[in-house]
Amino acid sequence: MIRMLQSHYILIFSLILSLPMIYFFAPHFLSPHPRQLPIPRPDELEDLSLFNRAISSTFSSPSSSSTFSFSRLGTHNPTLKIAFLFLTHTDLFFSPLWDRFFNSSSPKLFNIYIHADPDAHLKDPGGFFNARFIPSKHTERSSATLISAAKRLMASAILDDPLNFYFALVSQSCIPLHSFDYVYKTLLGRSKGNGFGFRHVRHKSFIEILDNETILPSRYIARGKNVMLPEVPFDQFRVGSQFFVLTKKHALMVLKDRKLWRKFRLPCFKTESCYPEEHYFPTLLSMKDPNGCTQYTLTRVNWTDSVNGHPHMYLPPEVSPELIYTLRQSNYTHDYLFARKFSPDCLNPLMDMADTVIFND
Ligand SMILES: *[C@@H]1O[C@H](CO)[C@@H](O)[C@H](O)[C@H]1NC(C)=O
Ligand SMILES: *[C@@H]1O[C@H](CO)[C@@H](O)[C@H](O)[C@H]1NC(C)=O
Ligand SMILES: *[C@@H]1O[C@H](CO)[C@@H](O)[C@H](O)[C@H]1NC(C)=O
Ligand SMILES: *[C@@H]1O[C@H](CO)[C@@H](O)[C@H](O)[C@H]1NC(C)=O
Repeated sequence: MIRMLQSHYILIFSLILSLPMIYFFAPHFLSPHPRQLPIPRPDELEDLSLFNRAISSTFSSPSSSSTFSFSRLGTHNPTLKIAFLFLTHTDLFFSPLWDRFFNSSSPKLFNIYIHADPDAHLKDPGGFFNARFIPSKHTERSSATLISAAKRLMASAILDDPLNFYFALVSQSCIPLHSFDYVYKTLLGRSKGNGFGFRHVRHKSFIEILDNETILPSRYIARGKNVMLPEVPFDQFRVGSQFFVLTKKHALMVLKDRKLWRKFRLPCFKTESCYPEEHYFPTLLSMKDPNGCTQYTLTRVNWTDSVNGHPHMYLPPEVSPELIYTLRQSNYTHDYLFARKFSPDCLNPLMDMADTVIFND
């Protein structure tokens, strides 16, 4: 009995002793992002050289301007393309659905680029319409690595095909809500109601830009107090969805930026307030060309009951034609074209209604 008590005491005593140790190491065990390292210098230099090559490749390109003369190119220029930029750290489990989406495009009015975290060892999504894997680097939530990856995708797409005009960033958990034709017409078709004889259509970027969110103060100081100054005053700090469709003009603007990047690349102290990719693009574009942006996104996301910064993830029992119709509905000028997040096992129910519902518009 006494021995047992003794061993109890020893256990309790050692537990008490270990408390400070737990406290000391806890952040490393509990936090999903224990080490917020700055982006390594060689990676930065490699990126810079890629971005510079992309920028200098565009001087003579026909699609660098956001304005086209429709009298010169015809009412509907069929050659401009949409670059789909897949940013992923898992297999592209919806590639059969995307395959069917792209298969309805003829002639080829798109290109597909994939930035896959090298640590994820992706299975090649064979047959995925000549999708190209671009040279990729490690990405991590709550860090500026997601900004770098998005920029790498834009730069690679600009270098690859001068006809890429729109740059649509999507993830592995995004799905299309409409046919390719519908998406193409929405982005590059003749805009309606612009008056007779009006020969120029200004193409805008579809990027959410919000300034009245209650989260902005904590996001602003995530790297420390006053750290963002003077480049980014609080009243110019914005938030928006990570998923956007940018014009080439804005993609180049992003690639040229050094000033804001110097601040947004800094590691955060508070990872729970650290989503640099949700701030960098909206803040930069709202500073440089607010009227060239719709200020809303085309990618529907459901933030109801979000947990730990993750939106609602749809599961197979929720997938129905009604869900697709609901997700398309928007309070803005355009329907939503894409939606997230869907769990990988939604593929079958989505494929079952691909032709009858999703691409039937
Ligand atoms: C694309 O569609 C054509 C006919 O519509 C079909 O024969 C072909 O197999 C499809 N390709 C893919 C990759 O789905
Ligand atoms: C806040 O932002 C929402 C869009 O998210 C907008 O509908 C609303 O009008 C804004 N409110 C103010 C006071 O700016
Ligand atoms: C959004 O997600 C909630 C659950 O978090 C669900 O109840 C609701 O139906 C979803 N809304 C839409 C439009 O899908
Ligand atoms: C559109 O606005 C109404 C009224 O504010 C709101 O209830 C609804 O959720 C909005 N729809 C979408 C798709 O955001």
